Amino acid sequence: MHLATTQAELDAVLDGWRARGLAWGFVPTMGALHDGHLSLVRAAQEACERVVVSVFVNPTQFDRAEDLARYPRQPEADAALLEAQGVDLVFLPDVATVYPGGVDAPPADLPDLGGLDTRYEGAARPGHFAGVVRVVRRLVRLVRPARLFLGEKDAQQVAILRRAAAEEAWPVEIATVP
Ligand code: PAF
Repeated sequence: MHLATTQAELDAVLDGWRARGLAWGFVPTMGALHDGHLSLVRAAQEACERVVVSVFVNPTQFDRAEDLARYPRQPEADAALLEAQGVDLVFLPDVATVYPGGVDAPPADLPDLGGLDTRYEGAARPGHFAGVVRVVRRLVRLVRPARLFLGEKDAQQVAILRRAAAEEAWPVEIATVP
């Protein structure tokens, strides 16, 4: 299993796969992995020649600083679990790699989400879904997968990411897993 923390390390592996004509699936996570995450990984492994999993606690999707501070972080245990599952590449970027312009830069260029982000969970967590769109869009640009795997448990997140991907023509197919 490859481990990448920088864009250069990530590119070194992905460029090699691309040169060999391989296509890969991508499972974005915030770590603290459990069997739900692994079911996404298994679906990606069934459908794709290689699988990339990111572990990144995304600061921009937390509307309360205390939630971000106490979010569980266990990167070594997560990496061990993913290695045992046969994942090909784990991407563990730092905040500067994901947000080179800084996390506080206003996301003025967000796609039109048609109000999907401000109702239901979005009404209780202002800015949460904008942060999700920012991070997933950036991770997809970095990881360049053929398919992006998302859990249907997060139904509103899936709807919003589908909308964002359609609005901006992200070059990725979205696959959802129960
Ligand atoms: O569902 C999650 O765990 C997160 O919202 C995601 C998609 C990994 C983005 O940080």
